[in-house]
Amino acid sequence: MATAIAHPNIALVKYWGKRDRELNLPSTSSISLTLDKFQTRTRVDLGVEMDLLVINGRTVTGGEAFRVFEHLDLILPGRRPAQVVSESNFPAAAGLASSSSAFSALTVAAMAEGGHELTPEELSVLARRGSGSACRSIWGGWVEWRRGSEPDGNDSHGVHLAPPEHWDVRMVVAVVHGGRKKVGSTEGMLRTMATSPMYAAWVASYERDLSQARQGVLDKDLGALGAAMERSTLKMHATMMTSDPPIRYWRGASVALMDAIEGLRSKGVGAWWTMDAGPNMKVLCEAHDAGRVAHTLGTFVQQVEILAPGGPPRLV
Ligand code: DP6
Repeated sequence: MATAIAHPNIALVKYWGKRDRELNLPSTSSISLTLDKFQTRTRVDLGVEMDLLVINGRTVTGGEAFRVFEHLDLILPGRRPAQVVSESNFPAAAGLASSSSAFSALTVAAMAEGGHELTPEELSVLARRGSGSACRSIWGGWVEWRRGSEPDGNDSHGVHLAPPEHWDVRMVVAVVHGGRKKVGSTEGMLRTMATSPMYAAWVASYERDLSQARQGVLDKDLGALGAAMERSTLKMHATMMTSDPPIRYWRGASVALMDAIEGLRSKGVGAWWTMDAGPNMKVLCEAHDAGRVAHTLGTFVQQVEILAPGGPPRLV
């Protein structure tokens, strides 16, 4: 058996929409930061009688299990039955990027258990098939997922921009609501693509956000990166909210937090927010400002976590 630990990543420039659903190819490139502390630990054992999935101590069947075993069929064609035991130390399906750590840990463990030694780029291509955002969790720190142009998708994978120690930032996570989201990301993006009149504008306008964010990361320019991140986030949510029927992940507290972060900025604290497919707020700031940011967020929500840049997946 093989066990891998992987960390989730938070997109700074967002992935929202697929140009090829079968191969899970994105419409746009994206940039992310892999986090420490939050993690998924997954064990894959190919020496068993039948497929079995256990997540956080509970046997899982149905759609979630189907997705996991279908991924194993794809990356290990002709595989033997597998027991997959996975544990995450943070809420799943709440817009905290749980599928990114889940599918990167699963891919890394499964390929090791299958006896394959792959480059990070090859692992990234395989992880992408399970969940797009997982292809960025194959590296620690700062990662760009280039959308690629090859029809087979083999050039659509993560590219490492900088390691975790490149820049001492923090992602302060305010848990507005830890429950499962009503509309999952895959369903949300397909609906957006099919129905939002804003979707074409999202695809047409991402490159500026991408290049500004990439340069912001390389130059350690938080103002440039933060502005690109908020812009990308707002545009993504604009496409969701203008879908039919609409998808709105924001709650009242999410908006109150946006105001609070703007308030911090007006007092000279470099803090910038992002949200994914859920109401939870993630705030990017320099390490020395994290305590103040966390204190402010903590006046609105009960659970606040301070996360630093994290490392790549590892076999244990
Ligand atoms: C809002 O990677 O979960 O977090 O590829 O369909 O599995 P699938 O989607 P997923 O979507 C992530 C969407 C996002 C933005 C991002 O992480 O870039």
